[in-house]
Amino acid sequence: MRFFIDTANVEEIRKAAKMGFICGVTTNPSLIAKEGRDFSEVIQEITQIVDGPISGEVISLDAAAMIEEGRQIAKIHPNMVVKIPMTEEGLEAVSVLSREGVKTNVTLIFSSTQALLAARAGATYVSPFLGRLDDISTDGLQLIADIAEIFSVHEIETQIIAASIRHPMHVIECAKLGAHIATVPYKVFQQMIQHPLTTAGIDKFMADWNSVYTK
Ligand code: E4P
Repeated sequence: MRFFIDTANVEEIRKAAKMGFICGVTTNPSLIAKEGRDFSEVIQEITQIVDGPISGEVISLDAAAMIEEGRQIAKIHPNMVVKIPMTEEGLEAVSVLSREGVKTNVTLIFSSTQALLAARAGATYVSPFLGRLDDISTDGLQLIADIAEIFSVHEIETQIIAASIRHPMHVIECAKLGAHIATVPYKVFQQMIQHPLTTAGIDKFMADWNSVYTK
């Protein structure tokens, strides 16, 4: 399983990129709005930090406008992936854009039927939202398992991006279930990095060293 970072904050992207474990970025309208910056400006900046798939989401809701917006997003950089919500209009846009060679990420996936239809419409990626399903007492991980099984049985090449990841256990379970990618917030990466025994181990090494070599 590969890692994308789920943020529009360029400082977080820069920090994660320096550690070398991310190979892509996902944004959404809420994440862009949180930064309060111009969409193209933020996206341009991200393309200079990460050399991998970068999802930028359309704001339009009707197919013709999504297609036009998608073409503009795709023009920003060859690594751009057009993120499109899972609706009838969205599927039409995915179908047109994918035939034009534009990479797409169908977002707000909450069922395996949605994932299957998005894949058949030509989506490069589907983004099932784990955490938001868990929030309504529905097993988000089961959705990842179902989509992974269906795509495997039918040899579907669309990649699964496990999204709406809330904690490290989501990441572990997604990896075991066969998600191709997990898009992870910076805070969760920090939780994955830290371990109390690592911290205690460093403290002990430093204390032992300093007790002999430092006056
Ligand atoms: C994924 O592409 C979305 O941007 C994101 O994972 C949504 O996460 P949330 O449910 O924590 O907002």
